[in-house]
Amino acid sequence: MRRVVFLGPPGAGKGTQAARCAREQNLPHIATGDLLRQNVESGTPLGCKAKAFMDRGELVPDDLVIGMVDARLGHRDGVEGFLLDGYPRSVPQAEALDRTLRDRRVSLDGVLYFGVAPETLVERLGGRRTCRACKANYHVRFLPPKVPGVCDCGGDLVVREDDRPEAVRRRLDVYRDQTASLVAHYRARSVLHDVDAGGAPDAVAAQVARILDGQVRKARP
Ligand code: AP5
Repeated sequence: MRRVVFLGPPGAGKGTQAARCAREQNLPHIATGDLLRQNVESGTPLGCKAKAFMDRGELVPDDLVIGMVDARLGHRDGVEGFLLDGYPRSVPQAEALDRTLRDRRVSLDGVLYFGVAPETLVERLGGRRTCRACKANYHVRFLPPKVPGVCDCGGDLVVREDDRPEAVRRRLDVYRDQTASLVAHYRARSVLHDVDAGGAPDAVAAQVARILDGQVRKARP
């Protein structure tokens, strides 16, 4: 599989697995959260509009995100395939992705749904630390750096603004209300694969690799 979406709630481990998979499968990792945070840091007009939504744990409006993803998918490195992480996240985004791929005469090969129990999500987000310099993700208990508080690259580890408890609660509600319906949407199209993402990172990575290598049949509608 070369054109793939990673779908799932905040904290399910999509970013951790997508970064690993992109290296192993030589595919561009296109994470809308990362693209938006880069825009915020650089102070672009898009970043200035997006920041307040992100800090509150709400979705950035569809028109802004759809334009950003379309532009990114137009890069040369996406012609042979891509790993979309955190997009689409609403029905209008899913429809826009279909249109974009149709215009390019390609289609989605698969959607991997990362299923995790809600209490695990809260535990993962509460312990996440992100490197200010290289943006690598750690977890204080499950994926700790070699030296506590310091990234393996030497950068400072910080707590993401939207990993604070109030924003986490909001993000989980927003996922339930605006994104979760995409699971049924893609299952009905027979492109969905379930990943049991509650296990250790290596166990999850093994499932993902088997699916991407075409060794697992699609989930039934
Ligand atoms: P985004 O950055 O996409 O956040 P998210 O979807 O909420 O996802 P996370 O990054 O929180 O979780 P993840 O599943 O990637 O988990 P991770 O691998 O980091 O979006 C941020 C914001 O941007 C949104 O709230 C919204 O405002 C905006 N936005 C983004 N996309 C948008 C869109 N399409 N439309 C509109 N707005 C958009 O892992 C989490 C933690 O768990 C880490 O500490 C990790 O080390 C640990 N961990 C990972 N795997 C395991 C494991 N197997 N076992 C134990 N620990 C693990």
